[in-house]
Order: sequence, then C-alpha cells, then structure tokens
Amino acid sequence: PDAAPTFYLTTPIYYVNDAPHIGHAYTTVAADVITRWHRQRQEDVWFLTGTDEHGQKVMRTAQAHGVTPQQWADRLVEESWKPVLATLDAANDDFIRTTEPRHIERVQAFIQDLYDRGEIYAGSYEGPYCVGCEEYKLPGDLVDGTGELEGEKLCPIHGRPVEMLAEQNYFFRMSAYAERLLAHYEANPTFVQPASARNEIVSFVSQGLADLSISRSTFDWGIPIPWDTSHVLYVWFDALLNYATAAGLHATDPAEQARFERLWPADVHLVGKDILRFHAAIWPAMLMAAELPLPRQVFAHGWLLVGGEKMSKSKLTGIAPDQIIDTFGSDAFRYYFLRAIAFGQDGSFSWEDLHARYTAELANGFGNLASRVAAMVGRYYDGALPAAGAPTAAEDALADVAARAVADADAAIDRLALHEAIAAVWTLVEATNGYLTEQAPWSAAKTEVGVDGTYPQGGRLATVLVTSAEALRVLAVLLHPVIPRAAAALWESLGAEVPLGALAAQPVSGAAAFGTLPAGTVVTKGASLFPRIEEPAEQ
Ligand code: ME8
Ligand code: MG
Repeated sequence: PDAAPTFYLTTPIYYVNDAPHIGHAYTTVAADVITRWHRQRQEDVWFLTGTDEHGQKVMRTAQAHGVTPQQWADRLVEESWKPVLATLDAANDDFIRTTEPRHIERVQAFIQDLYDRGEIYAGSYEGPYCVGCEEYKLPGDLVDGTGELEGEKLCPIHGRPVEMLAEQNYFFRMSAYAERLLAHYEANPTFVQPASARNEIVSFVSQGLADLSISRSTFDWGIPIPWDTSHVLYVWFDALLNYATAAGLHATDPAEQARFERLWPADVHLVGKDILRFHAAIWPAMLMAAELPLPRQVFAHGWLLVGGEKMSKSKLTGIAPDQIIDTFGSDAFRYYFLRAIAFGQDGSFSWEDLHARYTAELANGFGNLASRVAAMVGRYYDGALPAAGAPTAAEDALADVAARAVADADAAIDRLALHEAIAAVWTLVEATNGYLTEQAPWSAAKTEVGVDGTYPQGGRLATVLVTSAEALRVLAVLLHPVIPRAAAALWESLGAEVPLGALAAQPVSGAAAFGTLPAGTVVTKGASLFPRIEEPAEQ
C-alpha cells in the first residue's frame, strides 16, 4: 500500500530572552490544531517547534541576570518554554534548541557547503541593527524618535533606537536571488499567504535584495563559522536552518537522513507577520543557494494587540497563557483565539469577550447540548442508547448539516482559515440545538411512555435521541483538534470508544455518516464540559 502522505508543519523557534506570552501560544495552538486535523486525516504528520537561543538579544538578557547565555537558555527552556506546551495541550513531535549539537553540526555543514559553492564572501557591514529584531535595517525601515528619543532612529516594531554597526562580516550573495524569488512567487501563488503577506513580500523583493551579512565578529554567542572561528553565524541564518536540521538535513545517522527524505520540503512554516521577510525571502534564497527544495508555504498570521500595539516580551505587555488557562482551561484558550480572530488578521484580546464567548458558545451552546442529550438517554433508557426508528426530513436535514460541516471545515483547514473551520463545525452545534428544540423529545416521551413506565425502541423519542447522539459524535471528532479535552470527555460520555475506537484515530472523512453508534451503547452523563465561570475581574 502507498505510504500515507506526509504533512510537516513548523512554528517559529522562539527567543528565550523571556517566558512565553499569549502571542507565542497563539502560533503554537494554531499549529497544534492544524496538525491534529491532518493526523485525523490519517496523514503522516510531523509538528516541530523549539527555541532560538543564540544572538545578542539572549546574550544581553543573560548578562543582565548575571548568568551565562547557556545557563539562561537552559533555565528558560526547562521552566517556561517546554512546560507551556503541556499547558496548551500541544502535541508536538519534536522540539529543537539551536544550542543542541545536532543543530550546530548540521548548520556548520550547511554553511561550509554554501562557502564551497562560492555563495559567501568576506566583507564589512556599516549600518543600523535592531537587537530586538536581530535584524540589519534599511534606512527606510526606521522611524524618527520623539520626546526623549528626539533625533534618534527607531525600530518601528520595538520603538527603541537602533544600534549602528561597523564590523567585518561574511556575506551571502542574496542579491543574486531576487529574480528567482519573484519567479517562484509568481509560479506558486500560495507560497506566501495570506494575500496581504504575499503582496507585501512581492513588493519588498521587487525593490531588489542586498547581499546579507551572515556573521558577527564583535561577540561570541553563536555558532562558530567553520572556516573562520573568529566569527559566529548571524542568528537568523542559524535559526532558519532549524526547520531543515531538525528534520535531518546533513545528519550522519541513516535513520535521520531517511527522515529528511520523508519530511522535506516542509508543508507549512507558520509564522507571525513580524518575521515574514526572513521566511519568505531570506530562507528560500538560502535553500536555492544550497539547491534544496523550497517549503510549500509560508503562512503569516496577524498580531495579538494590546492597546493597539503588538503584544511583546520586549515591551513587557505580555499576558502569560496561565493567566487565562488557570480560569478558563486550555480548551477555551485554544477555541477562543482561533474562533474570535480571523486567522491572518490582527486581533485584540479582552476578558469580557473571552468570557462572553465562553458562556454563550462553549458552556451554553455546546456543553449544555452534550449534557442534555446524555441526561435524556439516562432518564428514558437507563443510559443504553436505544434503536432509532425511520428517519424523517428533520433527521435527514441534520445529517446534511453534518456532512456540510465536515466538507466546509476540511476545505477551510486547507486554506488555514481556522476561524472558518470552527465556524463551519459550529453550524452543527447550532443545528443540533435547533433540532432538539423543534423535535422536543420530552414531548414525545409523554405520549410514548408505556404503562410500565418504560419508553419504546424505534419511536420518535428514540430516533431524536439517537440522532442527537450521532451529531454529538460528529462534533467530538471535528472538535478534537480544537478542544481535545472536552472532545475526549464527550467521546467518553457517548461510550463511543467501545464500538468505534480511540477518538484521535477517527478519520475526518466519513465522520458525518450517521448510524454508527449501535443500540445499547452505554451513554453516561459526566461532569459538565464547560462549567459556568463568573466574569473575571479586570486583570
Ligand atoms: O522572532 N501576536 O522569535 P520571537 C501574535 N526567534 N503572535 C506573536 C506575537 C503577537 N503579539 N508575539 C509573538 C523570533 N508572536 C525568532 C524566530 S524562526 C526561525 C525564529 C509569535 O520569540 C509569532 O509567531 O520574537 C511571532 O512570529 C513569533 O512569536 C516571534 O517570536
Ligand atoms: Mg519578536
């Protein structure tokens, strides 16, 4: 049999200058939802995340705390960056740290190869640099400072003065790749998405690319340049390579080499729009120079804003994921950010909005539906799912909604329109609530109840409850990537594991077909999926 198609998705590797905030969690959660969905499509999925540990930004933070950069990175990774993955329920397959030997060795092999190909030459750089971005800036990128910063040139992202560098560096002949990059964007319209990101990158590269300084010689926290160890590799050149080194590029171990053959090129590099140019211009130019295949897509999502500005570690405007998850739970966190913000656009977070959606959509809309159905199967049939009777137009209509929800959500996932995927699934939550209200099984119960107080198999009461349970089963399958804990609790409550197997193994295709839960399936009313939460005080 043909091997399942692979699906390799990455997040940025995050700087360890500080602990994660909800902006980092947003990318990670989106990546987790997409990869869980692809796993339920029975694909061979690889989800990579990790940390970016070299460079001046991390080095200076460590110095300010009186520890070595390696000690600082070790502490942040173990105490913050790895634990947040568990907090978010992210099911990543690998976690790469740029200080790991596997990465360092493979990066050195990559740049030695570029050097041997004549793609790198010695020169010197003079110009502005933002340590917050770890980026050489063009004069046109900068904004004028005001007030205390009058007369200074500022990085528009960090709002802080740039530093002027004048140092010996090695350069990558990136200018030679502008035309080829433009041809690639032209021939592959979905290479950079969404459209706003694509337009930005096309117009940026159309202005031409300068050669890129790829080493620094005034500090030593980085990967040594193999042919000249008085330089360390520019942190972005080092960091971008993680996507290939973690997959096994330049590995010496045959199993790792085979993994690279299987996984490369990556399907999606998911990033925030702050780092679009690195991923959509510099990274593909590096791969072209090395004659390696390009990733299939770079998708730049928008920013979580605080007071109209990008939430940031540097500006100390970060909200820690725990602040939300301690109260609302990881499922609500995952659901809220992906549902409330159009994926690709900026969005603001507010406690009121989170609480309102939690209450209306998760607690009242979905959780309450699940508990009502389980309660009725308990009350009327002692928790044993009855046998349904012949479906009427109402049952067929609900089955149609389920089929459309599956198809629409699946298509939206391919466009990475995550908000649309969830909205498509939610049509089934709403239709099932409407179906229950209209079919009023509690009324059927009154007319169908037998003299001995039992309720018949195959009547309207049974049909409506079985149909509702089937809709809930479809919802558990479709929502498992988004709200894995609640979906697992629902699967348990429906007793679905015995006849159908593990929830995570349920394929998306065919999920909508009704009539899969056999009569006699043991339905239990567990704890509320989304218990009511008092409106939190402003934090
Ligand atoms: O840039 N809204 O790391 P970083 C949405 N190490 N997403 C946000 C966000 C916000 N306010 N703030 C951060 C780096 N993010 C480099 C990446 S990759 C080879 C190297 C998310 O710690 C978003 O994904 O600054 C953004 O691109 C990323 O975190 C930047 O994380
Ligand atoms: Mg940043």
